[in-house]
Amino acid sequence: MCGIVGYAGDKDVIPVLLKGLQALEYRGYDSSGVACLNGKDSRIFSIKEEGKLENLRARIDGDSKIKGIGIGHTRWATHGVPNQMNAHPHLDEKEQFAIVHNGIIENYVQLRAELEEKGIHFKSDTDSEIAVQLWQYEFAQSQDAQEAFRKAILQMRGRFAFVGICHDAPGHVYVFRRSNPIVIGLGKEENFVASDVTALLDYTKDVVYLDDNEYAVLSASSVEVYNLETKEKVDFKPTKIEWSSEQAQKGGYPHFMLKEIYEQPAVVDAVFNKRVVDHMVEWDTLDSKQEELLKQVHKIHIVSCGTAYHAGLASKYMIEENARISVEVSVSSEFRYSDPILDKNDLVILISQSGETADTLAALSEAKERGAFTLGIVNVLGSTIAREADAVIYTHAGPEIGVASTKAYIAQLMTMALFSIYLGQLRGVLKEDRSKSLIDEAAEVSNDVKRVLESQAELIKKCSKEFYERKDFVYLGRGYDFPTALEGALKFKEITYTHAHGYAAGEMKHGPIALVDENLPIICIAPQSKIQEKMMSNIEELRARKGIIISVGTEGDTALKEKSAYMFEIPAISALFSPILTVLPLQLLAYHVAVLNGRDVDKPRNLAKSVTVE
Ligand code: M6R
Repeated sequence: MCGIVGYAGDKDVIPVLLKGLQALEYRGYDSSGVACLNGKDSRIFSIKEEGKLENLRARIDGDSKIKGIGIGHTRWATHGVPNQMNAHPHLDEKEQFAIVHNGIIENYVQLRAELEEKGIHFKSDTDSEIAVQLWQYEFAQSQDAQEAFRKAILQMRGRFAFVGICHDAPGHVYVFRRSNPIVIGLGKEENFVASDVTALLDYTKDVVYLDDNEYAVLSASSVEVYNLETKEKVDFKPTKIEWSSEQAQKGGYPHFMLKEIYEQPAVVDAVFNKRVVDHMVEWDTLDSKQEELLKQVHKIHIVSCGTAYHAGLASKYMIEENARISVEVSVSSEFRYSDPILDKNDLVILISQSGETADTLAALSEAKERGAFTLGIVNVLGSTIAREADAVIYTHAGPEIGVASTKAYIAQLMTMALFSIYLGQLRGVLKEDRSKSLIDEAAEVSNDVKRVLESQAELIKKCSKEFYERKDFVYLGRGYDFPTALEGALKFKEITYTHAHGYAAGEMKHGPIALVDENLPIICIAPQSKIQEKMMSNIEELRARKGIIISVGTEGDTALKEKSAYMFEIPAISALFSPILTVLPLQLLAYHVAVLNGRDVDKPRNLAKSVTVE
């Protein structure tokens, strides 16, 4: 949450900052702002605006050409309403220090009171302003910008990242990170910093990830990293980024979400090709010791949030079916406070697209403290979960920009389906011919995804037009289709702002069936499977109460079609891979209903792509 950028070099700094913020806007869009220093003036130039980045752009005068250093911010509000006063960067009274911040300063009330007692006036309601006021206060004592920055940070509790500039060091950008993402981009006679790599892709592929409690000082020609406690210089090794800047652009689609939906066949292909060699599943990031640990585990816990949680639920079915190990699935924010019973025989899997979700990170620490073996299933290379878990498997979905997760989910499902086959093979519980036939089927999933997206698009549009004004939707599924029901409902509510609820179909009779009348569209995920008959009975019960059935079913299933106002078809497929297909029509349904309702599909209200506060 919140996107932060910084630049030191000789480019015109404001366009560089705006471009970076544009790439990070999915992290928050309540307000935005920039602050720059040109090396001649002692006062910092700053401009900020409420609302989306376009509002800031509209205020920036084309003549504001500043060469030098600068910082920028796009906000997802925590402390203080989203208005101009609370927008970042925050400056001190004399406008000689500026800071942008991501995260929460937990002891800000106490620090603010102490500073106010010393005569310092605050302008905003944010916790962030503490950082800039403390920095300038410490500078007044020591006249040393770097040491003052360090001393200010030492007084603040919480998880956060900062980027700051000050008049005394007009060529330097100061950076700090604790449990909030920060990546430094290395250029030629210029250096960059941002919350994530998508903001850097136009400039460099060589990046440095700061570790927790490290701070860095950037100039056009140098990057130095230090340990916060000891002040000692830290050696760092740059990482090469594989993503391209084209991947992070819309490529002719009206929205990132639609582009990402249509990238899903390629994503499935990439996961398969990366992982399957001669009918065996292999992981480039697991060593033999880790494989031995996986062979021995007694119990698996999967911990994640939102869409990644739904991937976790589907993974439970996959792993229990193929590897016969008991799996418990929890949302991260519950798991971390549940006093979980774990020991060295437990495997805790953290699924996360961003690898930065605060609650999932906290769950990871909890699991590590209790001695469990931890495995991150992560999309973003070098992200915190990827680095802090005992082992990591990357999902290779490429950059996902739309706030609503689509291709990252598909990559998680495909990865976990293959992981379940791998575990079954490793533990000797999956018969060879079964494993072989599943791998053969896995090779075809990408074509199946393509076929669903191509063949169902028009019908889904038609259905969307008929129902987009309804106020309530229910999503139902059983077994492997239950997580799909939850995911379909989540996708729908987050981008359409319309109420949608996902249930296990068998639970309908225990209460929710009271909702059913002739106005309620009920999306029934009912592909042919060993439990389809039960689902058909549920559908009959709903029809008897005049509910409108919109189904996702197997091609050629005329019985289901007859009972449905609309049926979206998927090719016949084993249950293991069916969640990858059944969710596709639901992603498109949510998308089209959101567009028809005039919603901001890629940046839905109140949300941010990466939830880095608890
Ligand atoms: O980056 P993560 O996978 O850890 O994020 C988890 C959730 O915040 C995320 O899936 C969220 O629910 C999406 N907006 C859903 O589309």
